[in-house]
Amino acid sequence: MGNKKSRKVAILEALSRGFTQRTLDAGYMDDAESRKAYGEYFGTVGFEKGAAISREIRNRNILAFHGRKRLSILDLGTGTGEFVRGLSEGFFPESADEIDLLCVDRSIAALQDFADQWKPPATLRLRLLQARLPDQKALLEEVKEGIDLLSMANLLAENEDSLHGFLDLLANLFLRLSPGGMMVLVEPADRRSSRSLLSLGDDLMRLCPDLRVEAPCPNDRKGPCPALDDPGDWCHEDRPVTFSSALTRTAASLGHVKDSLKMTYLLLVRRGRVDGEDLPSLRLVSPLHKEKGMSWGLFCDGRALIRLRLLNRNRHDGSKAFGRLRRGDTILDPRSGGNVTGRPEGGFVEWPSGSPVVGVRRPDGALWNSQHEEG
Ligand SMILES: C[S@@+](CC[C@H](N)C(=O)[O-])C[C@H]1O[C@@H](n2cnc3c(N)ncnc32)[C@H](O)[C@@H]1O
Repeated sequence: MGNKKSRKVAILEALSRGFTQRTLDAGYMDDAESRKAYGEYFGTVGFEKGAAISREIRNRNILAFHGRKRLSILDLGTGTGEFVRGLSEGFFPESADEIDLLCVDRSIAALQDFADQWKPPATLRLRLLQARLPDQKALLEEVKEGIDLLSMANLLAENEDSLHGFLDLLANLFLRLSPGGMMVLVEPADRRSSRSLLSLGDDLMRLCPDLRVEAPCPNDRKGPCPALDDPGDWCHEDRPVTFSSALTRTAASLGHVKDSLKMTYLLLVRRGRVDGEDLPSLRLVSPLHKEKGMSWGLFCDGRALIRLRLLNRNRHDGSKAFGRLRRGDTILDPRSGGNVTGRPEGGFVEWPSGSPVVGVRRPDGALWNSQHEEG
């Protein structure tokens, strides 16, 4: 038992190192032991990420069915399948009657294991396609049009030498999304992977005029991601989650901490005929820092990053919620009334003293009205 465990940890260590250093052998998913270890550890985390994104899509109410509740999902780089399982299972039963799911990977062994082990609901039709991406021929023959949801998780980091090819592939697939269809792109929460995904998002935005960044960016971002201005900067989510003690122990033996879902992601929607007009908002993209006499955080308005602070002496009932903000919360932009003082020392923008904090959405996309909260 002990030996078996340490063997598993050794395999996970090698995988983890390979992912971080970009040194993995391309066939790692063809090895049964690696696949099993990947599924039990990274896959378990991936399942929670897929479920979290599914929840966010439902919370944002952005599934476009056009009269039928049959969802067509395309997943690129499926691997052992947990991410896309968490994503698609989340739509049953309220959001989808049926799902048509096409999974693509260069490893047919991984796809086959996934199909053998998963017992999807009878209303889910699973198809497998072995393809080496970003080669498009086999895939585009299989997918003509009408994709409601394209997902791609943790694939770019293994393909840094073919990012142009992936851009081209995604731009072509974007044209095959149904109106209101969307892409969910997820990568690890580290500077290199995050910047690579954010740059790809900016490039896609240039190539696809009807692309709307639904999340995480506020205000229907139209220009380049402001996190890319500074080469040391990046953007990620950090959503609390509780994993089993077995997974937490495995994580500890790898030197990882698993108490939250950390990821960089983009939720990109092909615009329908009408887009709602949202009020200008800000998203907290850092932890909220509490220091002597003030709370502050780095907020994004979709064009720039703003260091916004609330001085304790300016706090009032309506702004108390500021002190409880969490990374990923979106609030109304207090500057939209033009009532913000300039940029004082330290590069801080002051929270306008009389303004309330008005919550818009929680990190998981749920609507949120901070003024209705106790406290
Ligand atoms: C890190 S795993 C991610 C699996 C799953 N999406 C997740 O998030 O847990 C990456 C998967 O992509 C596949 N993959 C990597 N590069 C690929 C490529 N160029 N073409 C097709 N599949 C690829 C690998 O075989 C592996 O199964």
